[in-house]
Amino acid sequence: MTHLAAEPRFPVEKALAVQWAHLSPSEEVFVTTSNPSRRKPVRVAIVGTGAIARGSHLPALTALAAGQPLEIIAAVDVDAASVEAFCAEAGIAHAYTDLDRMLAEQRPDLVTLATPPRFHRDQTVAALRAGAWVWCEKPPCPSLEDFDAIEAAEGPSGQGPYAAIVFQHRFGSGARHVRALLAGHAMGRPLVAHCQTTWYRDEAYYAVPWRGTWSSEGGGPSMGHGIHQMDLLLDLLGPWAEIRAMAGRLVHDVETEDVSTALIRFENGAMATVVNSVLSPDEVSRIRIDCERATVELTHLYGHRNTDWRITPAPGVTSEEADAWRDFGADVPSSHEAQLTGLLGDLRAGRRPRSSGPDGRKSLELVAALYKAAFTGSTVRAGEIGPGDPFYGALHGDVPDWAPRNVDRAEGVVA
Ligand SMILES: NC(=O)c1ccc[n+]([C@@H]2O[C@H](COP(=O)([O-])OP(=O)(O)OC[C@H]3O[C@@H](n4cnc5c(N)ncnc54)[C@H](O)[C@@H]3O)[C@@H](O)[C@H]2O)c1
Repeated sequence: MTHLAAEPRFPVEKALAVQWAHLSPSEEVFVTTSNPSRRKPVRVAIVGTGAIARGSHLPALTALAAGQPLEIIAAVDVDAASVEAFCAEAGIAHAYTDLDRMLAEQRPDLVTLATPPRFHRDQTVAALRAGAWVWCEKPPCPSLEDFDAIEAAEGPSGQGPYAAIVFQHRFGSGARHVRALLAGHAMGRPLVAHCQTTWYRDEAYYAVPWRGTWSSEGGGPSMGHGIHQMDLLLDLLGPWAEIRAMAGRLVHDVETEDVSTALIRFENGAMATVVNSVLSPDEVSRIRIDCERATVELTHLYGHRNTDWRITPAPGVTSEEADAWRDFGADVPSSHEAQLTGLLGDLRAGRRPRSSGPDGRKSLELVAALYKAAFTGSTVRAGEIGPGDPFYGALHGDVPDWAPRNVDRAEGVVA
């Protein structure tokens, strides 16, 4: 069974062809207009109908569809029962178990990918080739080689289609305000930072067969859990220059690490410590940046709002200035909806969205470098992992004790 809904589609293209008959061909694609009712609907398909699709993609798309022309036209999952239930509950007309068939029959404008990481590369490339923009869940894909294949499949500059990664912690009023303060050097130079993802995952979590393996998860907490905070750190502090790291398998019977620590030097001279753990009963996600004139601290778990940020001025800073720094404006929590709002605007304008291309690759490159530094005991510099480097094609770098247990190293074959 591939297409689970038999009823004919509403002839939306025909209706729009009439509505937009007076426009030039380029305007027909996505018209940016101040009158939302005059814009062509963005037609969206959701691929993967599990936890994050239900909990975040569907609610974000539904909320945005209330204020702009946007239709969820189809959903795809290899699990027929799951996608049928998802479509029935959400009122989505077309349920598929075959991505290629959905792409060919529905021609969506945007595909949101909420499948396990090992499918991200091929599914993103398939959607891009079908002309759809892609919003793919983190972690982006299992290797830098995979990411570069995705970028190569994007459309022409200034047009797209583009593929963006879900890094929702970068978005919302708090991150935007602090990013602007740092970029404008309002609080002086950033000097010292801490980036902490100390979460807790028990044995039951790792009992699921696809957890804890390089092939299915792409990595341990450095890749699957801590990538959000590291991505936000990079978004706030700018490019990194070098990294040293350690990784350990202290509790769980997994291929990947269950804890990692790292030291990062940024191009601007700032120095950061990073901890990624699934062994920490008192769970917290935290970023702290000490600048010359203030400390900025974010403390939360899975998402943040204005009140989760704290700014502590250095002695000598006037209360007026500190109060201005602490004025975050209207509260927009970090969320899938916050990121998707910007992405839809970029799609309509044919602009490269944030968190795509080099801006989406930078966190994966940092994670690859963290693993290389940890598994080889060396200092890794930004830009050094390219084709020919063992860590380019696989984040474990095929290092003994860290490579998948079922790799036959003599043959290089995964059983
Ligand atoms: N952004 C966030 O904060 C956040 C939070 C949780 C999970 N995630 C990410 O979202 C992704 C999915 O995680 P989840 O927790 O929803 O997993 P899940 O297991 O609950 O859902 C995954 C779904 O994908 C389906 N699927 C598997 N292979 C498929 C294929 N080849 N084609 C189509 N469907 C397929 C499964 O049947 C399942 O319904 C992962 O990359 C995960 O890291 C992101």
